[in-house]
Amino acid sequence: MTRALPRDKRVVEFLDLLKANADYSSGQSLARKAGISRSAVWKHIRRLRRLGYRIESLHGKGYRLESATENPVPWELARVLKTSFVGKNIIYRESTQSTQSLAIALAEKPGSHGAAVIAEQQTGGRGRLKRKWLSPMGGIWISVILKPSIPTAASTMLPFVAAVAVCDAVREATDLDATLKWPNDVMVKGKKVAGILLDLSAEADAVNYAVIGIGINANVDTKKLHLEREGRPAITSLSDELGHDVNRLHLTRLLLEKLEQYVVLLEEKGSVTIVALWRKRTDMLGRQASVVQQNKVISGMAKDVGDDGSLVLATAAGDVNVVSGDVTVSY
Ligand code: BTN
Repeated sequence: MTRALPRDKRVVEFLDLLKANADYSSGQSLARKAGISRSAVWKHIRRLRRLGYRIESLHGKGYRLESATENPVPWELARVLKTSFVGKNIIYRESTQSTQSLAIALAEKPGSHGAAVIAEQQTGGRGRLKRKWLSPMGGIWISVILKPSIPTAASTMLPFVAAVAVCDAVREATDLDATLKWPNDVMVKGKKVAGILLDLSAEADAVNYAVIGIGINANVDTKKLHLEREGRPAITSLSDELGHDVNRLHLTRLLLEKLEQYVVLLEEKGSVTIVALWRKRTDMLGRQASVVQQNKVISGMAKDVGDDGSLVLATAAGDVNVVSGDVTVSY
């Protein structure tokens, strides 16, 4: 079940009153039906507008719901989501430091398998390699707790699972030609549009929990972000590429559904199947690539991705298996 905080529960009950009446409802009748004060009515209206609902107000007539939100709020996701475990429990914040930290704090709890933490903005978003991840309003910032039935060695596949899910969700929601770049960046026209972060707790023989953090620059004006990105791949957003906003509620729904589908596939068919899906969505194999590691650069032809997720580079000195780093591809 989607967990609604008491505050959310009240606002959803109030929303149902607005939805029930296609015409205007006066503040007084809304207050009476909801059993709240007129000022509480005004507070709910303000919050719903902040959450993306369009509510008309007309002097002497009251309030009318013009259109529902496209923000990934849990009660709207619950209505449309077709999954059996991913996103059945959603913790939603208008703002938080990092959904990843919040999810990690919840991950040990029983019943947290599949739970998703979603925030409208993050004040201290984390990226790979201990980098910051800028997370203003308009993006999709989400962390999913998973306790998959896989051997610990296969947990390196989880970011690949997530990358394939993001790639497919973006393609389906936008028709943009999203592609994958090793290890798990989602790209549009050679620019990074989404990234994935894995936090893992595992023993030698079993995974305790994995938290998969997914950041998608959905409706973010990336030109307005002041970034220090010297030597780093260019970034973009879906709205920058499309020239209009995407429906984040729909995109989040697709993402959660595809994530569940591919997690189950990993459990049932193993890494080889996931790597095969990843290969189909990348356009970097066969191209020249350079991997920047702490104190060296390895250059060669991106030959393949191994079943453990490592990148095989054909260098002048022979094949090298790279397990971490930042890749630049020459197109
Ligand atoms: C990367 O560096 O490419 C990975 C970025 C991952 C960002 C996401 S946004 C949701 C979750 N919360 C975080 O603090 N980070 C991840």
